[in-house]
Amino acid sequence: MNQAQGNIRWHPAAITAAERERSKGQRGAALWFTGLSGAGKSTIAAIVDHRLHAAGRHSYILDGDNLRFGLCKDLGFSPEDRAENIRRIGEVARLFVDAGLIVLCAAISPYRRDREQARALVGAGRFIEIFVDTELAECERRDPKGLYRRARAGEITGFSGIDAPYERPEAPELRLVGGPSSGPDALAEQVLAHLLAQHILTGT
Ligand code: ADX
Repeated sequence: MNQAQGNIRWHPAAITAAERERSKGQRGAALWFTGLSGAGKSTIAAIVDHRLHAAGRHSYILDGDNLRFGLCKDLGFSPEDRAENIRRIGEVARLFVDAGLIVLCAAISPYRRDREQARALVGAGRFIEIFVDTELAECERRDPKGLYRRARAGEITGFSGIDAPYERPEAPELRLVGGPSSGPDALAEQVLAHLLAQHILTGT
């Protein structure tokens, strides 16, 4: 039995999620960027975040790499640890959405099942899965942290796309084709256009 089934009770908030959204003039949503390391998730998320902020919107980034310095610093890269990593990010994203924010989550999240659980946590219609579809060869060519080189040399094991799986999303809300011909600014534009089309940015 976990605690929630035992001696603690859910304490309802005095302000509803709808009221929080109205006061911010936007709908709460989680933009879930998934893709290989080096695909461009964090870069695109940072541009979208910046653009939203400049437009007076309320957003925040939950970056997989950064969270591993704190909230998730006890986790490694086994399938179980990654599942727990995504569960935690999903739970935090859920709180941000409840607060009426647009939260941008950037994590490889290589397993379909983990992503679907995050989607279920946040809630359908609030979870926008964005597949940053950059070919492995291009990610390896970029290799911003030198990790692909180390993974190929056998110095890192269980690296996504090399000797650990990446399960491509089957029906993401948005697919961004990354590569040498499509820069991050253009891809960020596609995300913003999607938010407008889906009426996430209301009150404009
Ligand atoms: S996830 O799989 O659990 O979603 P997350 O996005 O938090 O991963 O962290 C991925 C980052 O950790 C990568 O961008 C890379 O910098 C680093 N990293 C270190 N070891 C690995 C590994 N074995 N597989 C993937 N990424 C790794």
